Amino acid sequence: MEIRLAKSAGFCFGVKRAVEQVYTQADSGKKIYTYGPIIHNEEVVKDLEKKGVHVIDETNLDEVSEGTVIIRSHGVEKAVCDRIQERGLECVDATCPFVKRIHKVVEKESAAGKQIVIIGSATHPEVMGIMGWSSTPVVVIETEEEAENFVSENDREICVVSQTTFNYIKFHKIVEKLTKKGYNISVVNTICNATEERQTEAREIAREADVMIVIGGKHSSNSRKLYEICAKECEHTYFIQTLADLKLELPKSVGLVGITAGASTPNNIIEEVQNYVRINF
Ligand code: F3S
Repeated sequence: MEIRLAKSAGFCFGVKRAVEQVYTQADSGKKIYTYGPIIHNEEVVKDLEKKGVHVIDETNLDEVSEGTVIIRSHGVEKAVCDRIQERGLECVDATCPFVKRIHKVVEKESAAGKQIVIIGSATHPEVMGIMGWSSTPVVVIETEEEAENFVSENDREICVVSQTTFNYIKFHKIVEKLTKKGYNISVVNTICNATEERQTEAREIAREADVMIVIGGKHSSNSRKLYEICAKECEHTYFIQTLADLKLELPKSVGLVGITAGASTPNNIIEEVQNYVRINF
């Protein structure tokens, strides 16, 4: 029986980088805080708490008087970075470089007088962070209908960016609608392909696999999406959070077991599952 683990399973580049920075800081002996949970994985957050890393947010930042605050890969609005520094705290910016690039574009183009349009979800922390780098009010567009109804303030030049995890096809449809309006528009495609790569690879493995295991948080939308993709291709698809959830009942003849994992699944959980299947079946 072959076990095929997806190369793109688990943390993307930006999340891996941020989590590593927190673990490095945790060993420094200083008081360490993360601004929001570093990833949406309870196990990791609990593990970090044991190492003295606490989660803070805008409601209790002002109660922190010493130590280091780490910004997670989603990034934050400029005002948050300023607030951390004003309080005399050290700020370790673990914003993913792909998100940081969007902050820089938005800061520069809004300062040049352009109207910033973000294609994404207004309630997503990454988008809220991006908005906070514009010196002028930002418009967030999530649907084609919203694009249809968009009116540029004073016919200003428009700079369009995107939430990194936004769907590529939807992005193009929205851009098409905006372009048709005849405004002077510049589009910076800032979609990151880590999510798409993970989904494509999962689909390819599931298509060939007799059994497919998807590891991810129950509340993680990208993990659920991975499960849906795999379940369409492979009848025996399991969705588990940790090894403890795995109640494998293998069909009679199994040639290939595929394994993939959502963006916030740590490597040790993936390895545990892989080893378990290897040893027990
Ligand atoms: Fe991950 Fe950074 Fe892309 S956090 S999804 S590599 S934008």
